[in-house]
Amino acid sequence: MAQFSIAHSTKGTKKVLRGIEIAYDDVGSGPSVVLLHGFPFNRSMWREQVEELRQNHRIIVPDLRGHGESAVTPGPATMESMALDVAALLETLNISRATIAGLSMGGYVALAFYRLFPLRVRSLVLADTRPQEDTEEAKQAREQQAEKALKEGMEGIADAMLPKLLSPETVAERPEVVRRVREMIVGTEPEGAASVLRGMAVRKDNTSFLSRIIAPTLILVGSKDALTPVADSELMHREIGGSRLRIMEGAGHVSNLERSEDFNRELVKFINDVEA
Ligand code: MLT
Repeated sequence: MAQFSIAHSTKGTKKVLRGIEIAYDDVGSGPSVVLLHGFPFNRSMWREQVEELRQNHRIIVPDLRGHGESAVTPGPATMESMALDVAALLETLNISRATIAGLSMGGYVALAFYRLFPLRVRSLVLADTRPQEDTEEAKQAREQQAEKALKEGMEGIADAMLPKLLSPETVAERPEVVRRVREMIVGTEPEGAASVLRGMAVRKDNTSFLSRIIAPTLILVGSKDALTPVADSELMHREIGGSRLRIMEGAGHVSNLERSEDFNRELVKFINDVEA
């Protein structure tokens, strides 16, 4: 197994899976944990979690299609297509079961993965995400954003998204986090962003599915998450039997970066409890 340290500029290993190139890191050893990033980010958003978990776990961190160093595909990049990519990656790495953790869009993919392969999920982590499908209005906004990205590039998307992604505290006090999130957004190919926006717009509603989840589940959310507010996490917590909900005080939508110590503490505790 390759032992890469995840830095922003680190080149991932690449494999052709389901006909497209997917970049990923595979570090550490022990029970497997898969980390699925949000939109329009890449696997480098998990750096702090990888450094923490790799001591006792094997961590698989892909760039989901349309992002980072992975291929951009024509047509909508659906949550199911990304979940199937993850399943193909785990198969080639001989991993039959793993903890599947996703933030925001990564959470949509984690839910799609669970629907397709419940027996391959040892436990689920749903961070700053939601189960609902897009409203008609949100679908239209996605299409406008996709067209804007294709016409003007990602700078304008970054300007529009940043104040919604990060809490006012993060914006005021953590310039390095603001810079890192901005770099991930502007580093995303506009064609990739457009295909993923169109994929998110057609995602399934998972609200009524939640009560069928029997995997141990941790739900994490920033107290100031403006995109997937605490109420969405409370809904998931009510519906997923035995789930654990933890709120990261002062964090916005990218809670793993904004409050990485709190996030890591809850993540490690949950994984240890599941493995005990
Ligand atoms: C994300 O952070 O992945 C996105 O904000 C999710 C979304 O746009 O629904």
